[in-house]
Amino acid sequence: MLSIARKVSTPMVARLAARSTPLVRPMVAARRQYNAYNNDAAAAEKETIVKLLYNIGSRKEVEQYLRHFSSVESQKFAVIKVGGAVLTDELETLASALTFLNRVGLYPIVLHGGGPQLNRLLEDAGVEPQYEEGIRITDATTMEIARKVFMAENLKLVDALERHGTRARPIPGGVFSAEYLDKDKYGFVGNITGVNKDAIESSIRAGALPILTSLAETPDGQILNVNADVAAAELATVLEPLKIVFLNEKNGLYHGVTGKKIVTINLDEEYEDLMKEPWVKYGTRLKIRQCKELLDGLPRSSSVAIISASHLHKELFTDSGAGTLIRRGHKLFKYNKLDQVDPDKIRRIMESEDPVVKSGEMSVASYLRELQRKNVTLYTDEPGQVMAIVTTDPADPSKPAVLEKLLASKTAVLNNVPDNLWSSIRKDHDVLTWRVSAKAEDGNLDQSWHFERADGSLRNPQDGSTMFFYGIQDSERVKQTLDRFKGGAATAKAPAGARAFSTFAQQRRSYSTVKTANVGLIGARGYTGRELINIINNHPNLNLTHVSSRELEGKPLEGYTKSSLSYVNLKPEDLTAQKEVDAWVLALPNGICPPFVKQVDQAVKENRSPEKVLIDLGADYRFTDEWTYGLPEFNRKNLVGATRIANPGCYATGAQMSLRPLLPFLDKYAAPTVFGVSGYSGAGTKPSPKNDPEVLRDNLLPYSMTNHIHEREVSHQLGTPVNFIPHVASYFQGIQLTVNVPLGKSMNADDVRNVFQEFYQGEKLVKVLESGEPYVRDNSGKHFVRIGGFSVHPDGKRVVVAATIDNLLKGAATQAVQNLNIALGFDEYAGIPIE
Ligand SMILES: *[C@@H]1O[C@H](CO)[C@@H](O)[C@H](O)[C@H]1NC(C)=O
Ligand SMILES: *[C@@H]1O[C@H](CO)[C@@H](O)[C@H](O)[C@H]1NC(C)=O
Ligand SMILES: *[C@@H]1O[C@H](CO)[C@@H](O)[C@H](O)[C@H]1NC(C)=O
Repeated sequence: MLSIARKVSTPMVARLAARSTPLVRPMVAARRQYNAYNNDAAAAEKETIVKLLYNIGSRKEVEQYLRHFSSVESQKFAVIKVGGAVLTDELETLASALTFLNRVGLYPIVLHGGGPQLNRLLEDAGVEPQYEEGIRITDATTMEIARKVFMAENLKLVDALERHGTRARPIPGGVFSAEYLDKDKYGFVGNITGVNKDAIESSIRAGALPILTSLAETPDGQILNVNADVAAAELATVLEPLKIVFLNEKNGLYHGVTGKKIVTINLDEEYEDLMKEPWVKYGTRLKIRQCKELLDGLPRSSSVAIISASHLHKELFTDSGAGTLIRRGHKLFKYNKLDQVDPDKIRRIMESEDPVVKSGEMSVASYLRELQRKNVTLYTDEPGQVMAIVTTDPADPSKPAVLEKLLASKTAVLNNVPDNLWSSIRKDHDVLTWRVSAKAEDGNLDQSWHFERADGSLRNPQDGSTMFFYGIQDSERVKQTLDRFKGGAATAKAPAGARAFSTFAQQRRSYSTVKTANVGLIGARGYTGRELINIINNHPNLNLTHVSSRELEGKPLEGYTKSSLSYVNLKPEDLTAQKEVDAWVLALPNGICPPFVKQVDQAVKENRSPEKVLIDLGADYRFTDEWTYGLPEFNRKNLVGATRIANPGCYATGAQMSLRPLLPFLDKYAAPTVFGVSGYSGAGTKPSPKNDPEVLRDNLLPYSMTNHIHEREVSHQLGTPVNFIPHVASYFQGIQLTVNVPLGKSMNADDVRNVFQEFYQGEKLVKVLESGEPYVRDNSGKHFVRIGGFSVHPDGKRVVVAATIDNLLKGAATQAVQNLNIALGFDEYAGIPIE
């Protein structure tokens, strides 16, 4: 039996997801008063909500799911069955979860029950609920009460949705037709015979969420009670949605022995064994059986999620999910001989998913011929959406097995099939090495997928490819393996340069083979340059090879002790000749950087230069999607393996750190205001009034009071307008940010502090104060940001946050090193003093 390793969610992701529901509330409540036909506002709101979704998963993940869900007709997105208890206990959470989906353009079809409510009313009426084989015996009195209860519950949900500004249409009847299941035995209980989609489709066409009850009618108009799970299943059979969701309060199914949540059930692989387990009984048994019967009739891409209302988004929009996912899964096949496999099947998947074949570099036939010389294991699934090829060298059995190809279609990725395949490969191979080319970024599995599954990796700076491995225990063997990689074809063209070597989160081990990366610094004269040189001087993995400054050309570099260097004056066209450099840090004034970048881009494109990491400390690339925004606390995942990184502005870093945790709670109609005061080192070394000690003495200078570039940067990154008023003061180093935040709903100081503490839990470069305000003086020379204040107005609708950040360190140099570390595969905090 294959068991699936769905990604374990990080605590941060889980935390954010847990908060994702209240997030939406202030925003949508306000929407009602808003002009519903204002398209600009609607688009902006959609964007804001999509951004909020990014808090739950990575941008790529969320976008993929959103595209996946939007790719089908509206009524084929999801059927959501809501248990009666959810309507009583979690109505608001449910309404905001559904609102959230609707705001991103999705129309879940909701079907609810009302069991507990019905039991309460029956009790009041002195009727004892009676069940036969789990089915409620429904006499005329019960039916009459049930009808009223279901109608009332239906309106309750519709009203709640309308309160959230979401249009919803009550559809308490007319969808299900039924006959008596067994009139003598159960009374007014229906067995569904037909589903009429008209009312559902009409509701969606009118822009309203359809809200259905589990009542059916006989041909002559008698209303019958049907089990809501059964009705949801019937509905799903007719609509064939991508997702079928059963909302329960427990957030999934639990293993009867270990008590752990069952993350995934792949019916094709696991059903029979599961049903033999003694703990699979009663409700769990029924549910799993129902899901199997339901999914057997649906396309393989359909799945059932059992989840609580508050975790719905996470389940829908992330690979890791949150509740229990039940799907048919894909039967996997494994072949030890190539001639056992249908060659057309191999050809089909390679032609559609293999970049090497697609680009015409190699034909399928010649690849297959090459494979004949090796011992091959080929893994694939029934529909041929994934394929993996693992080879061993018959001539040298001591070489670790190599994963030569891992191809997966987009649909397969969205259904976690590669993970399924992966666990099978892991079971067969204790040791494995594999290479991912830089091009793999365009494929359906990105580099981070591989990083998460490897014990370690080695990046080849010549061609940007990365070698991954797992299962190699002793460092001598690691070294041998890596040396082979070094000797491979990829590096044959150019002399082997320095390289990054690292191990990853799950198993951080240190090997004696740890290598260094060479860094060149352009614009070394400024204060930030000096801080960078200082950090690199104490960095275990970074080696400075060039310091460039027009003014200081020819002078020896002071403060760097690892080697003796002199300043040079590099022009844009000089960059491409410096083959040994793995990363360039561009610490130049805004607007000066692009010619340097163009030269490198061009040289890489024309194969004159291996790919390099470029980090721009200026603002030239902070607004383009082609560059990765280097604020690791919010964007860590995208920085792994990134080659073009825009280092954020100093004020902008501090402002975002003070605001991002509060994004969900902002008052939609009143933008936050950031009052910032920087030391004059922020004004650079070029003489100006802003760094003139005479002007600054006993003084405070406001400047660029509207539309400062950091105002635009913060607003752009947070997806909501933020006002920023900068000042410069007479101290040298450090920034004070006093951030006034109008709130959409009332909070107290403890709430706000909790939000920050939770948000930044585990972050080594952010300290959230227990009490009081942070002072610039205390934070000058420190690599972390301090956040405190959290002063809330007595009406609870406005909070003021105070933060300090050293503009030269976390505001520039430290952040750049943090980014370099992640991009090059070193420990994120290597070389950064952590207190
Ligand atoms: C419901 O009706 C169908 C025929 O329409 C029948 O095959 C099925 O057994 C009935 N279900 C139950 C639980 O009796
Ligand atoms: C490799 O293939 C040879 C024959 O081609 C076979 O004898 C040997 O057992 C295979 N080794 C492995 C590890 O599969
Ligand atoms: C480190 O940089 C120095 C120049 O500062 C250079 O001579 C040396 O080769 C570099 N080391 C490596 C391992 O590339």
